[in-house]
Amino acid sequence: MKPAASSARPAVALRAFAPADAEAALRVLLADEDFAVASTGYLPAAGDLQSLFYALPEGASPDVKQILVAVADDEIVGVVDALLGWPASETVTVGLFLIHPRCRRTGIGSRVLGMGVDRMRAGGFRQVRAGCPRGWEPGERFLAGHGFAPAAAREPVAMNRVIHPHEAEHPAAAILRQIIWCPRRAAPRGVEVWA
Ligand SMILES: CC(C)(COP(=O)(O)OP(=O)(O)OC[C@H]1O[C@@H](n2cnc3c(N)ncnc32)[C@H](O)[C@@H]1OP(=O)(O)O)[C@@H](O)C(=O)NCCC(=O)NCCS
Repeated sequence: MKPAASSARPAVALRAFAPADAEAALRVLLADEDFAVASTGYLPAAGDLQSLFYALPEGASPDVKQILVAVADDEIVGVVDALLGWPASETVTVGLFLIHPRCRRTGIGSRVLGMGVDRMRAGGFRQVRAGCPRGWEPGERFLAGHGFAPAAAREPVAMNRVIHPHEAEHPAAAILRQIIWCPRRAAPRGVEVWA
């Protein structure tokens, strides 16, 4: 994986997952055991990518689910899952936002988040809701640095999947950011695939 080693700023993109991305996307999911354990109590496993496609909180329609990949210099370096218009029509809920550990602290996560927020704004969404394991410092600091603030509710939240009973010890907190919305630049609602 080249991006971390290269001193040049890589070209970064955020696009819809394609079947050919599966192997590289799974490598990203398997690469951060600490985050997986903090999130679910389990080590990451080979079925995690497939599960991501089916994981939904109670009441959410499969139609709102999007799996995206972050690409740096043609290599897949991140995986994002988002629910467009859930739990409210103006909200995007990001369940997973994961950058490969070898590419971190080079600004890729920030650039990918910026691209995602731009698309949300263009789609007319006004709020982004991110899930973060409570007390998970990298995620909390990253989100705080990008204008997110903890949601008022203190109880564990279902992000993009159902919470299983054993996960009471691994609560996720919802962290919110309002999208600054400029009506002159915003496109009509109806972003279906972030390709
Ligand atoms: C959080 C994460 C997405 C950041 O990705 P990244 O590409 O390293 O992000 P950036 O390089 O753009 O970092 C931007 C800022 O976020 C903060 N940050 C990022 N990683 C951090 C860490 N491990 N500890 C403390 N702050 C951190 C810093 O303020 C950083 O700026 P700096 O490097 O100038 O100090 C990545 O570490 C990750 O995938 N972690 C596991 C999953 C996760 O926590 N997802 C986020 C919410 S659930």
